[in-house]
Amino acid sequence: MSNPIQPAEASPVAAGSPSAGRRLLVTSALPYANGPIHIGHLVEYIQTDIWVRFQKLRGNRCVYVCADDTHGTAIMIRARNEGRSEEELITQMSGAHQADFAGFEIEFDHYGSTHSEENRQLCHEFWQSMRAADLISERGISQLFDPEAETFLADRFVRGTCPKCGSLNQPGDNCGVCGATYSPIDLIDPKSTLSGSTPLVREATHLFVRLERLHDFLSEWIESSGALQSETANYLKGHFLANELRDWDVSRPAPYFGFEIPDAPGHYWYVWFDAPIGYIASTQQWCQRSGERLDDWWRSADCEVHHFIGKDITYFHTLFWPGMLKTAGYSLPTKVHIHGFLNVGGEKMSKSTGTLVAAETYLKFADPSFLRYFYATKLSSKVEDLDLGLEEFTDKINSDLIGKVVNLASRVGKFASGTGLATRYPDDGGLFAAAAAAGEEIAEAYEACDFSRAMRRIMELADAANPFVEHARPWEMKKDPARVDELRDVCTVALNLFRQLAIYLAPVLPKLARQCGELLGDPIVAWNQSQRPLLGSAVQPFRRMMDRIQIEDLQKMIEESRSEEPAVAVGDASRWTDSDQPLRDEPLAAEIGIDDFAKVDLRIARVVAAEQVPEANKLLKLTLSLGGDERRQVFAGIKAAYQPEELVGRLVVMVANLAPRKMRFGLSEGMVTAAGPGGAEVFLLGVDEGGKPGQRVH
Ligand code: MSP
Ligand code: ZN
Repeated sequence: MSNPIQPAEASPVAAGSPSAGRRLLVTSALPYANGPIHIGHLVEYIQTDIWVRFQKLRGNRCVYVCADDTHGTAIMIRARNEGRSEEELITQMSGAHQADFAGFEIEFDHYGSTHSEENRQLCHEFWQSMRAADLISERGISQLFDPEAETFLADRFVRGTCPKCGSLNQPGDNCGVCGATYSPIDLIDPKSTLSGSTPLVREATHLFVRLERLHDFLSEWIESSGALQSETANYLKGHFLANELRDWDVSRPAPYFGFEIPDAPGHYWYVWFDAPIGYIASTQQWCQRSGERLDDWWRSADCEVHHFIGKDITYFHTLFWPGMLKTAGYSLPTKVHIHGFLNVGGEKMSKSTGTLVAAETYLKFADPSFLRYFYATKLSSKVEDLDLGLEEFTDKINSDLIGKVVNLASRVGKFASGTGLATRYPDDGGLFAAAAAAGEEIAEAYEACDFSRAMRRIMELADAANPFVEHARPWEMKKDPARVDELRDVCTVALNLFRQLAIYLAPVLPKLARQCGELLGDPIVAWNQSQRPLLGSAVQPFRRMMDRIQIEDLQKMIEESRSEEPAVAVGDASRWTDSDQPLRDEPLAAEIGIDDFAKVDLRIARVVAAEQVPEANKLLKLTLSLGGDERRQVFAGIKAAYQPEELVGRLVVMVANLAPRKMRFGLSEGMVTAAGPGGAEVFLLGVDEGGKPGQRVH
C-alpha cells in the first residue's frame, strides 16, 4: 500500500484558536471539608478533569473551578471536638484536599473556599434578589435541640425508635427497616448522636424559599433546556414537579458555622445555600487573578456552564440552584452531568472492609494514572453506578496500558534513539491513516462523556498497531548494520502510532502524554497533532513509562484502609441510673443450662395483620409471618398498650414452638414476647435494623 500521509511541515497548531473556540466554565461538586478525599469522590474529579483536559486539547477555552465546602454543623462539631477553630480546621483540610487532587493530576484553574469574602458578598447579592422577588418567607418550626452540645440537631444527628414499626436505632428522617419517613420529632426515645443526650423540642424561626413560585420556570427548564440527562429529567418530573414544590428551609439558627444572614441576625444561611454560590465565588477569584470579568463567564450567552455532580446531590443542582441562578440573573447550567456511585468488589465502600480507600492511601500503592484509566473505561454518559474489582483493575491496567500502549513504545524505544525518526513517513499498511480517521469519533465520545466508548475505540487502534512491530522484528534489524534504514522506518511507524494513542489518551493520562512529548522532543498540546505523523526529529533515550501492577499491591492498600472499631469502651457507665424497682418486683429466676434455653425456639416474626377481639378486654389477635407462607395466629394481652394499626408491619420476637392452645376465641399458635407489668405498660420486644422474619434468637 502506498503512503497516504504527507510529512508535517511545521509543528501542529491547535484546532481553532482560543478566540474561535467555545468558552466553557466547568465545575465539580465542592467536597466537604469534614473528611479526606477517597476513591469514591475521585470518580467525579477524575471524570471532570478528563473532560476539561479534552476541551483544552481541542483548543476550547475552558476554565475548571472548584472549592472546599466548609460550612455546616458537622464542621462546627468536629472543630469543637478537636479543640480548635473552624478556620484552622478548614484551612488544613483544604491543603490536604488540594494535595490529594494534585496527586491524581486533577488540575483546577482555581481552587477556592466557600468561606471567602467573595462568597459572602455573592450570597448577599443572591439573597437580596430572592427577597426582591418575594421568594422568602418566615415561620417557626419545632426542631430537636441538644442541650449538652447546645445546638439544634440536623436529622442525621438524631437516632431513635421508628414511630411506625418500632425498630430501634433508626436515623432521624426515615426508617431503614419499614421505609417510613417522618420528622425526627416523631422518633420514639430519640438520642443525639453528638452527645448521647436526649434532645429537647424547641421552636425556632426559619427562613424559607417558596420554591413553588418557580414551578413553571423549573418545569420549562427541565423539559426543554437539554441540560439534564433524560433519566434525570424524568425522575424530577415524576418525583417533584408532579406536585406542589415544598418550601426550602434555607436558614439555621445560631450556633452554626456559616454566614450570618444580614437582614436576619442570629440566623445563618444553610450550607446548601452558600455552597453552589461558591462555584461563582471561586470563578470570581480566578477572574481577579487572571484579569477576567466575571460577567463574561457567568452572565454571557456565549459561555457554557457545566456542572459535574454525583447522583446524591441531584435535586440541589436541578431545582434549587437553577431557581437561584434565574432569580439572581446568572447563566443557567448548559449541562448538569450526573454520575453514579462507586462500589468496590460489588459492594458499597466501607471502612470495616477496607474499601473506603483514601486518596492518600491509594497513592502509596499504585500509580494514579491507573485509577484515571480504570475510571475512564467505566464511565459513560448515564447515571450508572460503577464497580471497582481488584482483579478487573489489574487485568485492565496490565493488558491495556502496559501490554498494548506502552509496549508499542518500549519495543522500539531502545533502538530509536540511535536512528531518530525518518524524514518521510514509511508505508505502514494504512495504520496511521485509519487511526487518524478515528479521531473525530473518539472526540465525540469524549465530548458526550462516554469515556468507556472512547477507551474501547483507542484500544482497538492499539490492537491493530501492535502486530506491525511483531512482524517487523526490529530487534533482528538492530543486529545488522546494513538494515539501519529499515530499522528507522519501523521505529518511525511504531513511535508515531504510539504518539497517536498518547494524544487520544492525553485527557486521561497526562503523564503518559508528557513522557511521549519528552521522548520525541515535541510536547502534546493539541488534539489534531494526531492527524499528521512526526518526522525527522531526534528521539531521546527511552525511559520506562509505567510498571505492571500486582494484585497484591491493591490487597495491601485495602488492608491498610481497613479500620477496626477502636477498642475503647463507649459511654459513661455512671451516667445511667435506672431504677431497681423492676428487679425487686420480679426477682431473677433459678439458674438454667444453655440446653434448657435452647428448647425455647424464639424467632423473629412480622405482624402482618392485627385485629381487636371484641369479646376479650385484654387481647389482640395477631397474624404473624415467619417468612414465606409460614403464618401463626397468636392472641396477645397487649390491647391496652397497642392499637392494631400501629402493629402491622413491625417485627416482633415470638416463641415459635409453644404447643398450640385452644382459647375461647380460637387457637393461639405461639406467644409474642413483651416486658412490663401489664395493662397499658406492656412493651413488645423490637428487632434491630436488618433482622428478618424466621431468624432464630440465640
Ligand atoms: N459538599 C457537597 C457538594 C456541594 S456542591 C455545591 C458534597 N460533598 S461530598 O464531599 O460529599 O461529595 C462531593 C462529590 O463526590 C459529590 O458529587 C458526590 O456525589 C461525590 N461522591 C461522594 N462519594 C461518592 C462515591 N462513592 N461514588 C461517586 N461519587 C461520590 O456532596
Ligand atoms: Zn420503621
